[in-house]
Amino acid sequence: MSHDQQDAVARRLEQGLKDRWYALCPSSFIREKPVSLDRLGTNLAVWRGTDGKVHALEDRCPHRGAKLSQGTILNDTLKCPYHGVEVRCDGVATSVPASPGCKLEGSRSTFNYHVMEAADTLFVYNASKPVDAPPPFHLPPELGDDTRFSRFLCYVEWKCDYRYVLDNVLDPMHGTFLHKQSHSMFQGGTQMKFGIEATETGFLFAKEGQRDVNFDWSEFADTGGQWVKLEIPYPKTGGPGGGFIIIGMVTPISPQLCGVYFWRVRKVAPGWERDTWRFLYRDRLEARHWHVLEQDRVLLEDLAPDASEHEHLYDHDMGVVRLRRVMRNMAQEQVDAEKAAG
Ligand code: FES
Ligand SMILES: [Fe+2]
Repeated sequence: MSHDQQDAVARRLEQGLKDRWYALCPSSFIREKPVSLDRLGTNLAVWRGTDGKVHALEDRCPHRGAKLSQGTILNDTLKCPYHGVEVRCDGVATSVPASPGCKLEGSRSTFNYHVMEAADTLFVYNASKPVDAPPPFHLPPELGDDTRFSRFLCYVEWKCDYRYVLDNVLDPMHGTFLHKQSHSMFQGGTQMKFGIEATETGFLFAKEGQRDVNFDWSEFADTGGQWVKLEIPYPKTGGPGGGFIIIGMVTPISPQLCGVYFWRVRKVAPGWERDTWRFLYRDRLEARHWHVLEQDRVLLEDLAPDASEHEHLYDHDMGVVRLRRVMRNMAQEQVDAEKAAG
């Protein structure tokens, strides 16, 4: 592989894979004004049309580059503040008021991105080239099935490479050490054997012979977008329902900043049981969860940017190794395919 290709693969990994869905921001970020967001190596203008649907365009006017996000919303279209060019959500410049009929008018001159909204979150399809209809993103049931699951979105921005956050989830063993003092991860062995099992959509990395005791397994899946999952048992004081499930997604904002989405989910029937959990969560559990999450944040933000070049990995790190290999292979395939296509 040439140096150029190696660089291209590294850049692809750093900025995020193409042709995948990523979490863009919490739904609440996008209200009545357009917003400019750096994500995935690009800058997006994101807005909510008067009909409530959210759209995203590259945040650059096709005329002379003003930020479309500084413009005004005309439902599915943004009007640039500089000279009034109107760009529709499919990237077509629909009106050039100062020069009607010019070449720009009617041209698809702005990169457009597809957005979907679910689980209190906006997701963006990181297309390698504009598409009319993106492939579906099959959300895990924990995010889509409200009859069985209840959830809270926890969104944070951490000053580290987004891959550190994924590595951290594929490393269940850190629960027993870093989070030893927490309410849910004080039990279980400190020297465990792990196994990896392929699933239809990714892989499961799990301790052998220990379940429902600590942070005992995590899963990586790609269902049109990539997410991770883990489950930690609740102590009795956690009220009715199943274990504490976390579905996670991470999106690069810049090389040293990422948006982290942890949906904290519980399998709990609607009615008093669900109401009890939601009350307990707000009243007591959320503060404890935040305390644990802070331990992760402090650790990951202080990892050197080149930490992975100086590692000495051992058996517990097989999940991390597998994850990195999966991601690298995907990035490599994408770069190869683009090169072949010229
Ligand atoms: S730069 Fe947008 S209309 Fe001129
Ligand atoms: Fe952790």
